[in-house]
Formats: sequence, C-alpha cells, structure tokens
Amino acid sequence: MKLDQAINIDDLRRMAKRKLPRMIFDYIDGGADDEVTLSRAVTRYNDYELTWRALRDVTGIDTSTTIMGQETGRPFFISPTASTRLFHPAAGELAMARAAEKAGVIYACSTLASQTVEDIAKATSGPKWVQLYVWTDKEIVKGFLERAKEAGFTGCILTVDLPVAGNRERDPRNHFAVPPSPNLKVASQVLARPGWLWDLIRSPKITPANFTHIQEKGDQGGVIGFVNRQFSRAVTWSDVEWMREFWGPGFAIKGISRAEDAKRAIEIGADAVWVSNHGGRQLDTSVPTIDLLPEIVEAVRGRADIIADGGVRRGSHIAKLLMAGATGVALGRAALYGLGAGGEAGVSRALTILEEEFLRTMALMGATKISELDPDLMRAPKI
Ligand SMILES: Cc1cc2nc3c(=O)[nH]c(=O)nc-3n(C[C@H](O)[C@H](O)[C@H](O)COP(=O)(O)O)c2cc1C
Repeated sequence: MKLDQAINIDDLRRMAKRKLPRMIFDYIDGGADDEVTLSRAVTRYNDYELTWRALRDVTGIDTSTTIMGQETGRPFFISPTASTRLFHPAAGELAMARAAEKAGVIYACSTLASQTVEDIAKATSGPKWVQLYVWTDKEIVKGFLERAKEAGFTGCILTVDLPVAGNRERDPRNHFAVPPSPNLKVASQVLARPGWLWDLIRSPKITPANFTHIQEKGDQGGVIGFVNRQFSRAVTWSDVEWMREFWGPGFAIKGISRAEDAKRAIEIGADAVWVSNHGGRQLDTSVPTIDLLPEIVEAVRGRADIIADGGVRRGSHIAKLLMAGATGVALGRAALYGLGAGGEAGVSRALTILEEEFLRTMALMGATKISELDPDLMRAPKI
C-alpha cells in the first residue's frame, strides 16, 4: 500500500505495523496495564453526538487560531514523543518537525528526543515547543531551556503525569527496553523488518541526544544512566514554581486530570493547562480526557488556554475536543503511525488526513471558523 492510498489514520497504523519491528510498533501502539484508557480514549469520542446548523455558506473555512500565544493555521499540533528515531532511524524528530512546518502546525519536541534542539531548529523554521520532565538537577534543566530558547523554541511544556513509568506490558513481553539491548527476541523481530534495520545501521546511534555531552564528562552508566537517575518520585508543585519565571510566557503543564491541579497550574503562572493521560501509557483506567474537559473549563475560567490530547484519530475527534472547551489539540500516535509508515511523507499524510477530515466536519456542521464550533452543537453523554 502506498502512502496516498492510506485514507485514514488506521490505514497508516497498519502500514506502520508492517514496516516496524514488532517491539517498536508495540512501543508506540501500546499502553499501561490492561490498556483500558488506551482503547477508551479512542472509542469515547463516539459517545459524543453531533448536530449541525443547516444551510450555512461554508465555501470558506478558516481554521486559524492562537494556542498559548502562538498564532497557527490549525487548532491541532504534534505532541512530544520520546526517542522518535526509534520509529524512523534516519530522521525521527527532523521528519516530524519538517512535516509539521509544511502543514503549518506547531511541533513539540520531547526532553528525551533523539535529535538535539539545535539540529531540529536547523531543519525547520516552523513554530516549535520543547517539553520537560521535572529532573533533580535544576542546573541541567536550566541549561536545556536556555539552549531551546536560543534555538528559537517559543513554548515550554512541563509533563507531570510521570512520577514513575507506567506498566507497559507489551515491552517486557517483547524483551524490549529503551535503549534496546540485543537478545534473541529483539533480533528476530528486527531481522523480520530489514528496511528498518538497514536504516538503523546507516544512522547514528539513538541516544537522548540533548544530554550526550553529560556522558562525555564520564558520568556513571552513560547518558541513559544519567537520564534515569534524573527522574525523581519526590517532586511536588513547589519544585516546579521557578520554571515559568525562568522560561517566561508560553508555559504549559501537561498531564492534568483534576480541577484543583488546573487551578494550581494557573497559580504558578501556566499559560496553558494540558489535559492528558499520556496516551494511556501511565495510569490505566484514567478518565478519557474529553470527559474531564467540562470541570477543567470551569476551574480555568478563561484564565489560561486548555490543551487536550488522547486517542485523536479523526478530524471529528479534534472538533469534539474543541467543542468541549479545548483551545488546542495535540496528536501523539496519529503522527507516529505516519512516521512509521513513511517517514516525513507519512507524517505529512497523517496531518493531511486529519486536516481534510477536520475541514469536512466543520463544513458538515455549518461552521466556518473555530469559534463557531460551539458546545451547543454537541450532545455529551451523562458522566
Ligand atoms: C511512543 C510515545 C512516546 C511518548 N513520549 C512522550 C514524552 O517524551 N513526553 C511527553 O510529555 N509525552 C509523551 N508521550 C505522550 C504524548 O505526548 C501524548 O500525550 C499522547 O500520545 C496522546 O495520546 P495519543 O497518542 O492517543 O494521541 C508519548 C506518547 C507515545 C505514544
């Protein structure tokens, strides 16, 4: 199947499955524990039903909006994902960022990216945000933020739903860890996908590229050991207060599920509250994000933007999150399936599919601008 024959995100998912070694595909596709949150994230959108305004002129549809002070042509953008070169060894993050620029959407890069913020900035002049975890060494975080700012990143996202890693059972079943270590199961899966292996062999080693200079200082356990030791279970709100001040405007807190935390995020100066459960990779049976939006909207009361993600595989899912009160919608796996299916062209295909679906949904609903996607058009299930 060729990329342009993929007519929806699920087609790209199937193509990615055929191209990637099983363990890599499962690392993208899987979730925590019984994967209840993961599967409900997608199906829950079906419980929100739509009405439309008939006989409206929908010849011109404007999807432009502003998310966290960033003007953008689309209300959706690419969410941060770690070690993206695993899914496409040659280009990884660069492919994502270039496709985002071409589609006029924001690209958010993970702390654990496999390309440096400087290289990503060289590859694209499109709008870029950087994501952080709360690490124990504040000076290293500051240094990273300074580099990202210098490279032209205009938004900073602090992810707070990962005090410990979620229990993703597909990984041990595949004998897979990041970084992958050689073993028979991994080897047999890799050999079954020679295209991916060939790409891997020809590409530089996959590392948390932004921190390899720390390895060069002779840190015990190398850069991976360093990164693992930086995650602390003891982090609280008071440990993150300095970040907004240090970064300045354009600061989001990602991984919020409760009204009181949304309020705290605003108290420490967040410009956006990001409702997310890490794509079902952390706490299983957590509430689908669309169901959380009404109470978050009420808590935020317009004082900050609201970003939402989770299970977005259709343009109508984007429209539903916007109608439920989100200012912007982030795409995780939808973009990654595209990347696995066909590198930069695959990400572009994913973004085009979602853009076309979103535009069609707007037209069918009689909405010509984002502000016309009002909550009145949607019937929410009883929660
Ligand atoms: C393979 C993978 C890696 C991820 N890595 C990160 C990360 O490094 N930082 C982060 O904040 N979120 C990370 N996420 C979560 C996404 O940013 C996003 O919240 C989630 O994927 C949204 O759900 P969806 O994939 O169903 O769209 C990751 C998600 C996936 C699938």
